[in-house]
Amino acid sequence: MKCMNPIVYLKKQVIYISIKIRFLLSYVGIIFVSILLLLVAGFLIVFAITGDVRAIEHFYKKTYVQKPLTETEENAFLDLKLLAKNDSAQLLNRDQVQKIEHHGIKLVVRKDQDIVYASPSLNKQGVRSSLPGFEAANINTRDTIRMHDLFFTYVKFDFYFSDKAQGSIFVLRKASSYAELTRSLFPILFGVLLLLFIIIIGLLNYMVSRSIIKPISVLKEGTEKIKAGDLDFHIRPGSDDEIGQLNTAFEEMRSKLKESVELQLQLEENRKALLSNISHDLRTPITSIIGYVEGIQDGVANTPQKMDKYLTIIHQKAREMDVMIEELFLFSKLDLKKEPFTFKTIELRSYLQDYIDGLQLELTPLGIQIDLQLAQKPLYVLADQEKLTRVITNLINNSVKYMHKTQKLLSIRLSEEAERAIIQVSDNGSGIEHAALPHIFDRFYRAEKSRNSETGGSGLGLAIAKQIIEQHGGNIWAASEQGKGTSVFFSLKKGEER
Ligand SMILES: Nc1ncnc2c1ncn2[C@@H]1O[C@H](COP(=O)(O)OP(=O)(O)O)[C@@H](O)[C@H]1O
Ligand SMILES: [Mg+2]
Repeated sequence: MKCMNPIVYLKKQVIYISIKIRFLLSYVGIIFVSILLLLVAGFLIVFAITGDVRAIEHFYKKTYVQKPLTETEENAFLDLKLLAKNDSAQLLNRDQVQKIEHHGIKLVVRKDQDIVYASPSLNKQGVRSSLPGFEAANINTRDTIRMHDLFFTYVKFDFYFSDKAQGSIFVLRKASSYAELTRSLFPILFGVLLLLFIIIIGLLNYMVSRSIIKPISVLKEGTEKIKAGDLDFHIRPGSDDEIGQLNTAFEEMRSKLKESVELQLQLEENRKALLSNISHDLRTPITSIIGYVEGIQDGVANTPQKMDKYLTIIHQKAREMDVMIEELFLFSKLDLKKEPFTFKTIELRSYLQDYIDGLQLELTPLGIQIDLQLAQKPLYVLADQEKLTRVITNLINNSVKYMHKTQKLLSIRLSEEAERAIIQVSDNGSGIEHAALPHIFDRFYRAEKSRNSETGGSGLGLAIAKQIIEQHGGNIWAASEQGKGTSVFFSLKKGEER
């Protein structure tokens, strides 16, 4: 392997994370962040209301720890109180106090600041610092205190020893600490939260997969199919959202692509047909020219009359070829939009009158009667006169060529519509088969399939006319009844007199 560009190499190392995993990660992240924020917010709210961080602890104390003492504890307290009132010196006697201290009861006897007695389960140091002070009135006798991490409910009685020293007796009861509470509740809370996470993530994942991942994989399949050259399938948009729009756009792209591929194939077919038509049409006159030239060379045309006849045919065939090549050339230039147009304002009435006057000389000897109907008033159009003549000539040539009646009639009519002028060329000739009518303006199309009948022709006359009229911004169409005759119409946009 050659020395690899480090940037390219790095790019190749980028880890691929599927959309599914990305969504999953973002859900988990969002849920964790929300919980964290919720906790912080809760803390902040309490802090903001009370202005004291320890407020949470007080809140806890009030709601959770206010539990009454048991009966034995109350009894012990009464015993102690009795002693304190009647014979306070007894309280300094350890044995006496221990008698009252039944199993599990926590007692404290305080004289001034000294803890005279504290049950063994209590931390003496903690007791000294945590217990409330002396209060002769004995008003706040019950409350909760915190000793290290533990909470205790207590009942207190304050009195004076005989030596006037301040004395207090306490009976304490351990309440579960909030550390303990959280510890016992945490697994349940955690389990519930975890379950909720899993359910929420599962749900979100299902929704995302249904609305995003699935349609995307459908698209992916579509692209694979297109890559393999298969365009014959449909992608239905499942929704109206962005993904649905993406699917619709993809479907449009597919059908456009299919259309263009089909068009390409069609064009390819046309090109093949074109080549074969051109070669066929050009070969026919060439073959006869070769035949007659060889006849002359072989001395078949041994009389001046025969020679004259042969030469006339050769001339005619060469002219035919010339016309055909000229038509082909013109058509290809029009098709490629390479043929220049020079538009001028033309008055159609006088133009047609002049044209028919010239035509009369040619057609009257053929026994064709011409009927010209012109509009009431002058009609102006913007047109390339030479090309316009070409169109009318092509139409009239067809009428003359496909005329098999004895009473030959050709009618040319100019009429006016709101926006356009319409020229109609009609004949009472052979007419066109109904099925062939839509195709007569196609290149190389000829209604009779033989192509080499005496009528001749390249099948380009009407295709050229169509190209010219369309480049004038007009339309061309035909109506025909077989055996009765044909009418070809074309329209030109009306222009202003100049
Ligand atoms: N006036 C008409 N009467 C009968 N058939 C017609 C007429 N004009 C056109 N057609 C039919 O339309 C076909 C196409 O015409 P065109 O493009 O001029 O080609 P071409 O005249 O070289 O055959 C003709 O071959 C003919 O079959
Ligand atoms: Mg023709």
